[in-house]
Amino acid sequence: MLDFKKEISKSIANALKLNNADLYSFVEVPKDSTNGDYAFPCFKLAKELKKSPMIIANEIMEKIQLDNEIIEKVEVVSGYLNFFINKLTLAKIIVDEFSENKEIEKCDIGKGKNIVIDYSHPNIAKPFHIGHLRSTVIGQALYNIYKYLGYNVKGLNYLGDYGTQFGKMIEGYKLWGKEYDIEKDPINQMMDIYVRINNLCKEDESVLENCRNNFKKLEDRDPYCVELWEKFRELSLKEFHKIYDIIGGKFDSWDGEAYIAPKVPEIMDLLEKSGELKESEGAKIIDLEEKNMPPCMIEKSNGSSTYAARDLAAILYRARTYDYDKALYITSYEQVLHFKQVFETAKLLGMQEKYVNGLEHVPFGMVLLPTGKMSTREGTVVKLEDLLNESIQRAKKVIEEKNPDLENKEEVARKVGVGAVIFNDLANNRIKDEIFDWDSILNFQGETGPYIQYTYVRTKSIIEKAGENSKNIDLEFLLDEDSQNILKLIYNFKNILIQVTEKNEPSILSRYLIDVAKAYSVFYNSNKVIVEDEKVKNARVFLTYATGEILKIGANLLGIQMPDKM
Ligand code: ARG
Repeated sequence: MLDFKKEISKSIANALKLNNADLYSFVEVPKDSTNGDYAFPCFKLAKELKKSPMIIANEIMEKIQLDNEIIEKVEVVSGYLNFFINKLTLAKIIVDEFSENKEIEKCDIGKGKNIVIDYSHPNIAKPFHIGHLRSTVIGQALYNIYKYLGYNVKGLNYLGDYGTQFGKMIEGYKLWGKEYDIEKDPINQMMDIYVRINNLCKEDESVLENCRNNFKKLEDRDPYCVELWEKFRELSLKEFHKIYDIIGGKFDSWDGEAYIAPKVPEIMDLLEKSGELKESEGAKIIDLEEKNMPPCMIEKSNGSSTYAARDLAAILYRARTYDYDKALYITSYEQVLHFKQVFETAKLLGMQEKYVNGLEHVPFGMVLLPTGKMSTREGTVVKLEDLLNESIQRAKKVIEEKNPDLENKEEVARKVGVGAVIFNDLANNRIKDEIFDWDSILNFQGETGPYIQYTYVRTKSIIEKAGENSKNIDLEFLLDEDSQNILKLIYNFKNILIQVTEKNEPSILSRYLIDVAKAYSVFYNSNKVIVEDEKVKNARVFLTYATGEILKIGANLLGIQMPDKM
């Protein structure tokens, strides 16, 4: 596909006799399209050329040679060059791209690069909470987008299935297992057992001792303890799968902390050899004062490994297993310090530099209920399955009102209800806290998942009404402003995906899809699609089709499914 930015940077490079590799990244898309489709800010060259931006702009203007079929017009506006692309060429590019119903082509920008994404990662015997949901939604969107760009992606569900609490769980189950039906309602029943045994431990030191012993036995692979642990894990996973069945989540590995724990001794050795491992009050730590961080605890005073130690072992394991170029960790910002410490300590493991440089924490904000933050202890945690089902029920009610005769209402309600929750998680910069408010996430007219689905459904129904459409599109009828705005957005699609991966920010795609839906609404409100004139109709039906395809591909990448009708 023709790259306008490349053509522009090449021409500027020729005019100034400069290297065009740098220039490419300087070319911008102006916010206001009266300033052109692309702009070149000349101040970026002022230092290098020792000239004012104005002078540079005029110099380029004088010497630049442009192919009129690519760039129609250039203007100098106070130190900027504004480029206007050839409308006919743009229309032709998009028409070609969508010809013969071929899906817009994937690209191979990520070919040969390995990405691992550590996401979702709920904890065994504990509720899958709304933070895990957000991690799942963000991780899944990134997974899909990297994959679409040709990267080799692995989704890692690093389950929290290890820790002293399992010693307690085992003791509780031994004492009162018969009183509970953990098969029927696993998470709640396990939580009850856990709370009860914790209370007993506080009263009775000998019980606590038993719990510690259980954990030790579990580590030594005592058959009874391992069997119970496996049961807890399996029952928890069954519950988690109910949620993954609703919202998705693609995992190539389910190796959790327990799988990694036996690999910690190698980490201890490596850190020992680095000379940086220090004793502090019986614990082993890496001092990070020079980096202005509290120490990274590697081994507790009772000799057990820490969350950080396991993360270090996981890094080494993943480097060897996946030879990653980038390793992303999707968690709430509560773990920012943890990952800073771990990544800093990872420098001491003697790995290739690329493995250290490839580590990246991708933090996100909290989900707030209108009543405040959710907390397990205060019982303000919403059960996720309930939340998703409620969204589906609410979507069904709206559909019931708007379109009572719709077929497959259940199926559509599911897509709309779930799509609304997913979109809400991805709508704004991930680092922002998010307020969960039913009315705004399900608003068909707002900047929501349902709005994108609704716009898509509209394109589908127009295409259906239009009947057979000719493959011959007369480009002349795609030159008006409303059509061109849509075409430009479609042209930018891949660029948007690349931006998502540069910042690991799926909201860039969410915002884009809203822009596409809005641009189509503007077009649709001022242009009838099904008109007498066949040529005009053809062009407008094409535009409608291309819009629908982009909305669908984009939404699917975010993990949202599209209904055909709603
Ligand atoms: N299970 C942890 C939690 O629920 C998140 C794990 C994040 N991944 C990691 N490699 N530390 O908080």
